[in-house]
Amino acid sequence: MTVWFKWSKRPVRKKIRMWNFKEIESAAKEEIQAIKDYHALDFFRLKYLSRKGLMAQIYASLSTAPAEEKPAVGKGANDLKNLLTQLIDAKQKELQGTQSSKGSQEIFDVTMPGVHSEIGSAHILTQTMEHICRVFEGLGFVVQDGPEIETEFNNFTALNIPVDHPSRDAFDTFYLNQSDPKRKDRNLLLRSHTSPGQIRVMQEHAPPLAVVIPGKVYRPDAVDASHSFMFHQIEGLLVDQDIKFSDLKGLLTASCQRFFSDDIKMRFRPHFFPFTEPSAEVDISCYLCKAKGCSVCGRKGWLEIMGCGMVHPKVFEAVGYPTGKYTGLAFGMGVERLAMLKYGIKDIRIFFENDVRFLRQF
Ligand code: DAH
Repeated sequence: MTVWFKWSKRPVRKKIRMWNFKEIESAAKEEIQAIKDYHALDFFRLKYLSRKGLMAQIYASLSTAPAEEKPAVGKGANDLKNLLTQLIDAKQKELQGTQSSKGSQEIFDVTMPGVHSEIGSAHILTQTMEHICRVFEGLGFVVQDGPEIETEFNNFTALNIPVDHPSRDAFDTFYLNQSDPKRKDRNLLLRSHTSPGQIRVMQEHAPPLAVVIPGKVYRPDAVDASHSFMFHQIEGLLVDQDIKFSDLKGLLTASCQRFFSDDIKMRFRPHFFPFTEPSAEVDISCYLCKAKGCSVCGRKGWLEIMGCGMVHPKVFEAVGYPTGKYTGLAFGMGVERLAMLKYGIKDIRIFFENDVRFLRQF
C-alpha cells in the first residue's frame, strides 16, 4: 500500500510504505524541523492527525494486516501517533517562545494610521450659562456656586415663601427625607430654584455685593416640550445702599441686549414673587418678528424671559441684615428657555438626549 503526501508544501510524490513507521517518523521529523510558523504547523497537523490524515489512514488499514503482524503494527501505529503529537506540542512551544520574544522586539510602525479621537466641546447649555455669566462679570458681578441639596429654610422660609404656599407641597418639590414638622426648616430637598443661593451669599457677606449664581434646579414636573424635572437657572443679586428699581431696569436691559442683540426692546410687567417687592416679569421683543407678532411669540410680539424685583425686607431680615439700611435687586432666569429663544430650539428635551447630531451644531 502507498500513500501520497497530498498536503505537502512541495508536491512530493514520494511513495512510502504504509506500515514503515520508521520511514514516516524520519520524514515527519525532517518536515517539522523546517516549520517556522503556526500556519505551517497547522498544515502538518492536518496532514498527519486530521480525520483524513495519514494516521487515520493507517488505523483504517490495520484490519488488512496479517494476523501475526497485527499486534506489532498496532503498537507501531500508536507509537507513531504519540510521537507526532509530541512533535507538534514541542513545535508549538518553540513557536510561542519565538513569537513572544519577537513581540518584545517588534518595531512600532509609525506610519500606521492612528486611532482618531473626536474633540468634544462644551454643551450648548454650558455655553449659554457661561455666556450669561460673562455678560454679568463684565458688569461687575461675581459668579458663585450653591449646592443642589438645600434646606427648606433657604429654599422657602428665608425667601418669604409661606408654609402654605403650593410650591412647598410634597408634590411640587423633591424632599430628601421625611418631613418633620418640628424641624421643618432643616428638612433637605433638591432646590427648586437658584434663589436660595441669595440667602447663602447674604449670610456670608455684608453689602455691597453683586453675584450671579448659575446651576441646576429640580421640580417634579412631567416632561414635555417645555418642561423638564431638571433644568438650569441663573440667579442674580445686587445689594447696596440706595439701589432703585431703575437700576434693575437699566441692568437687565444692558445685559439682555448684550446676550441677544442691541436692538431688542424690554418690557417689565408687574408680577408677584414672595421674595421681591415690587416684582416684575421681564419680556424681550420677539427677535424674529421684531415685536410684530409671529408663531414664535404666539402673535404677542413679546417673549417672557425672567422674573425680577427689589429684595423684600423680610429676606434681609431672615439673613440678619439691619432693618432699613440696604436695598437690593434680584432676578432669576431659565437657561434652557434663553437658549431656546436665542437658537430657535422648539423642544427642551433635545438638550438632554445627548444626540451629537444636535449638539455638534453649537
Ligand atoms: N425663583 C424664581 C423662579 O424660580 C425666579 C425669580 C423671580 C428669581 C424673581 C428672582 C426674582 O430672584 O427676583 O421662578
